[in-house]
Order: sequence, then C-alpha cells, then structure tokens
Amino acid sequence: MQRRPLIAGNWKMYLTRAEAVTLARAVVESSSSCTDRDVMIAPSFPFLAAVCAAVEGSGVLVGAQNIAWEKEGAFTGEVSAPMLEDLGVQMAIVGHSERRHIFGEDNAMINRRLRGAISGAVQAVLCIGETLAEREAGKMLTVLDAQVRQALAGVTGEQMRKVVIAYEPVWAIGTGKTATPEQAQEAHAHIRHLLEEIFEKNIAGAVRILYGGSVKPDNIDVLMAQADIDGALVGGAALKAESFNRIIQFQ
Ligand code: 13P
Repeated sequence: MQRRPLIAGNWKMYLTRAEAVTLARAVVESSSSCTDRDVMIAPSFPFLAAVCAAVEGSGVLVGAQNIAWEKEGAFTGEVSAPMLEDLGVQMAIVGHSERRHIFGEDNAMINRRLRGAISGAVQAVLCIGETLAEREAGKMLTVLDAQVRQALAGVTGEQMRKVVIAYEPVWAIGTGKTATPEQAQEAHAHIRHLLEEIFEKNIAGAVRILYGGSVKPDNIDVLMAQADIDGALVGGAALKAESFNRIIQFQ
C-alpha cells in the first residue's frame, strides 16, 4: 500500500517567536518543491498562531505538542482541540516520551488526549517507544503492544485515518544514538502487525508509522528506505533550516 510520507519537526521548548517564524518560512520554502510528501512543524503553544500565519496557503501542516481531552472547562494549563482548530492547527502530538517520563502521563491519559484530538478535526501523532532498560530486558514488544492497545482503546477503524504513529525509542531521543534501520523496521513491522490484529489489514496498511530518535540528514535516506517507515519525527535536527531541509528532501 502506498502511504504518503510525513516529515515532522517537533520544536519542543525551543525558539523565540522571531526564530519560529523565520524557521517556518524556511520550511515553506524547502517543502514547496515536494508535492509527494507532507511536512509538519510543531512549535511551542504561544507561537502556534504566528507559525500558522507564516505557513498559510503553503500546505505545510502545523501541529501542537499536546492536546486536552475536553473541549473546554476548568483545566488550567491545557489547550483543547476546538481552540487549536480555531488557530488552523491540523495535528497534535500525544504521548511523547517527555510527556510520559517527565510529566507522568500514562497510557490512559494519552488515550483520552488522542480521542480528544480525533473527535474533532485534529490528527493525532501518537508517540510510543521503549526505554533502554525495557529493550535490554527483552520487553520491547510487550511495552509497544501495551502502549498501542491502551492509547487506541475505543478508537474505530474509521478514526484511524486521523492517527499517525511515531515509534521513538526513548534511548534514541536526543542522544545521537539512532536505531539502526533494521531495529526501526523490526519495531515498525511489529506495530503494523498489531494494528492488523486490532483493526483490519487495509486500515493497518494505511496508517503512517514515523520513526523518531536522532534522525539527521545523514541517516534519513536509509531509514526512509525501510518498508514500514513512512516518515520521521525530528527533534534537534528540525531546529535548523539547513538540516531539516535535507531531511525533507530525503531520497
Ligand atoms: P531528537 O531528534 O532530538 O532525537 O528528538 C526526537 C524527538 O523526540 C522528536 O519528537
């Protein structure tokens, strides 16, 4: 099955407003020649509006780095799907390992966030991934299974059109230690197989599974050559126009 590649930049808690707008304009420029792939950038919450304005009309997608499950209410510090839609935000990252490990978000909460996104028009980028200790203890597949099954509980096959999965092994995030293409492909194939069990084969075949964790200009091509790798979720290398441009232009 043909899946449209998605190259996504997670800017985390970096960049000033001016830097965010400048980088967003550079991403518009880089992606203008690529009609066969999607490009998404996820700035910090305060600069979403400025970045949406900077990419308007370009086809570059804008994502939030998290999303609330309720539409409104007394939820100090949270931002809802209708608020994001109002700004022109099309996607939201949920379950990032930093949310899980630093802020204590568990699979049940991530499930609520994901359903909050896709109950409206916001596509969810669901991040999953094992820690080094889990991998070394031979628990990688069990951990991924639990993360996928619990985060997708109650999600219909139809709604899976609005879900992208990002496999981000925790030990590869920000460490410069990328998973080998074989390690990434093994995890991606396993995730797709699991999606076939939960949904149907054609639904599983249409879900984009991104790899994240020290994606750089010099490893993107070999990662993208793997059968089940449909794109990348990029941290550090997405903060510089030159390196992100090269990743967008993967061969
Ligand atoms: P790095 O690309 O900096 O390893 O970060 C990956 C990541 O966490 C993207 O969400």
